[in-house]
Amino acid sequence: MERRDFLRTGVLGSAVMGTGLLAHPARAADIPTRFERGVELAADLSKDETFWRDRRREFAPAPDFINLEYGYFCPAPLPVLQAEQKGSSEINARASYFMRREMRDELEATRSDLAEFAGVSPDEICITRNTTESMNIIIQGLDLEEGDEIVYSDQDYGSMVEALRQKQERFGVVLKQVSIPLHPKSDDDVVAAFEAGISPRTKALHVTHMVNLTGHILPVRKICDMAHAKGVEVIVDSAHAFAHVDYKVSDLNCDYLGTSLHKWLCSPVGLGMLYVKKDKIAKLWGLMGDTARDDDDIRKLERLGTRPYNHHRGLREAIRYHDAIGSAEKYERLRFLNTYWTSHFRDHDRVVLKTPEDPARHGAIANVGIRGSDAKSLGEFLYDRYSILTAPIQSHPVASGVRITPGLPTPLRHLDRLVEAIDAAAKVL
Ligand SMILES: Cc1ncc(COP(=O)(O)O)c(C=O)c1O
Repeated sequence: MERRDFLRTGVLGSAVMGTGLLAHPARAADIPTRFERGVELAADLSKDETFWRDRRREFAPAPDFINLEYGYFCPAPLPVLQAEQKGSSEINARASYFMRREMRDELEATRSDLAEFAGVSPDEICITRNTTESMNIIIQGLDLEEGDEIVYSDQDYGSMVEALRQKQERFGVVLKQVSIPLHPKSDDDVVAAFEAGISPRTKALHVTHMVNLTGHILPVRKICDMAHAKGVEVIVDSAHAFAHVDYKVSDLNCDYLGTSLHKWLCSPVGLGMLYVKKDKIAKLWGLMGDTARDDDDIRKLERLGTRPYNHHRGLREAIRYHDAIGSAEKYERLRFLNTYWTSHFRDHDRVVLKTPEDPARHGAIANVGIRGSDAKSLGEFLYDRYSILTAPIQSHPVASGVRITPGLPTPLRHLDRLVEAIDAAAKVL
């Protein structure tokens, strides 16, 4: 099928067939192909406001506040919602017939689409509910002994640290925390930080691909190469990097990875992916028991019971939607949204940015603070005076600040308003 036809039957096709969502004017929009756009470079397209205005119309954000907290989850575009809702009606109509006779093939088809998108084999991934579930399947399932060590960082996500602590309490695994620099001069600074935590007892590194607190992208491939040379496995929390940074899971050469699909892939809420490198599957215990399958069958890890498979229909549409925009194009746009406003404050005497300036080290997310004031006060100021929703991070040892996360539907005028608001905050807080 031609890319153009694919887009018409995929993104636009489903867009025009739905019910309640049809009322939205964005339904008429198509996503032009690269040829139709007449813009060759992703960096040029990132500043093409006409193109992004049309994408914005494919979402339906509430008008009563400015959402600069797309980091919690990215809403699904209307074609994705439509596929999910239509799927719900169809699956309910077919009821147990679907579950008993059609669901398995459909699950395998979705697994294949997602695996192709991630650049790995369908026999290496499961569709889960989110990153938290995926990472717990990995962490709780690792076959470790008392005294074995796991290295993690001072900027990992709280739920993963809790999963690691449970592993420590239950099995006597030793946790070693390392500090990663907020503004590294080179990849080596970050690799060296993880390397410093490794001892002869180290079995695994736990690495956050894009730090949720600051938006910092860590050089995962280099960390994996260093760790593997010492016989250490690497577990990657890619909650924020997947479908945000332009990469394939196979590029990382990690051993295990978890991500959420409702973050940057804009799938329906409640979907995640678990990746386990083929030769590591046999040794990993399931969180849900399944002894019936072969030890090296990834499906042994997803005995998850009855699930909302209409979400999977939305997921397949989300993959088509992402591909229609292009990974490089989306990443460039998200980076541009970051630098559009952060560049105002890089040399400011009171405004502090805890996100690296180097474009290779950030995407959409940034962390901002006012020297001498706290994150809660700034977050409240932005919301109460300017209706800007953000994520204040209060009392973190190294990354306190207000997290600002624009998303695909963010217009530049929202960021202009943010700049005005931070300027005002720096005068009064
Ligand atoms: C780095 C990181 N890991 C894991 C998660 C958890 O994601 P979820 O709630 O979708 O499981 C988040 C959520 O923001 C995160 O930022």
